[in-house]
Amino acid sequence: MFKKYITSAVVALGLGTTGALAAGGEGHIEDFDFSFEGPFGSYDVNQLQRGLQIYTEICSACHGLKFVPIRTLGDDGGPHLPEEQVIEYAKQFEVFDPELDDFRPASPTDHFPASSLENAPDLSLMTKKRAGFHGPYGLGINQFFKGIGGPEYLASLLTGYTGEEKEQAGVTFYENTAFPGGWIAMAPPLYGDDVEFVDGHDTDLHHLAEDVSAFLMWTAEPKMMARKQAGFAGVVFLTLLSVLLYLTNKRLWAPVKYKEHD
Ligand code: HEC
Repeated sequence: MFKKYITSAVVALGLGTTGALAAGGEGHIEDFDFSFEGPFGSYDVNQLQRGLQIYTEICSACHGLKFVPIRTLGDDGGPHLPEEQVIEYAKQFEVFDPELDDFRPASPTDHFPASSLENAPDLSLMTKKRAGFHGPYGLGINQFFKGIGGPEYLASLLTGYTGEEKEQAGVTFYENTAFPGGWIAMAPPLYGDDVEFVDGHDTDLHHLAEDVSAFLMWTAEPKMMARKQAGFAGVVFLTLLSVLLYLTNKRLWAPVKYKEHD
């Protein structure tokens, strides 16, 4: 009786996995090299600024960043915009002010707006939501060396369109090698040369995808650099403490040991 249950459970599990595989399974994620990977990695301020520009000019038409306060654009370790630029930047968004009972231009203390397109997900935490690279049996070894894999997923998604389209129940789907299932309802947002940078930086598809993904990593983890620095200070402190404790220990036991040899 019991055996029968177990067999059917095993069979059901087996069928479940083959079903998922047949539906396309996990997408293909390319390993991009980001400046913030590894224990000593840090954000590249210029890259974050370029990413912000791409988000603002292209992605913000549909996607929001509702968990990100606009003032953090001026933070150290972030895009680090000068204060006047942050104020200027905020003004382009309109927010609803319950006190005025009306819309007004946003100020740096407001958050970025939420998604304006209903089925476009908010991107504030997307790079964390779509983390990958957990390493063998989830030991986190890959995360330590290659980063969490979320920005890689995003960059792979943005560069993973094959050009194939299909329509299903009135919705157009676009084939994408990174998206789980292989078909996404977002039209390719980037083609290359979609924006122009004042510093003349490369605007091919690969670079744009990398820049906007780095920016979205920052929105999800704005304090990464402070965290790494604190971690590093902690390791140095613990190493010193271990050495001191070892020497203290030797010294404390020295008379006892000395006696034995007498
Ligand atoms: C015209 C509207 C539109 C624009 C512009 C747009 N997106 Fe999207 N995006 C969508 C929609 C709709 C979805 C949901 C697709 C789905 O679930 O099939 C989506 C989904 C996503 C996802 C989630 C994928 C997942 O794993 O669920 C990411 C990440 C994303 N977009 C990033 C971006 C970035 C970065 C840009 C700017 C370079 C951008 N999008 C521009 C409409 C848009």
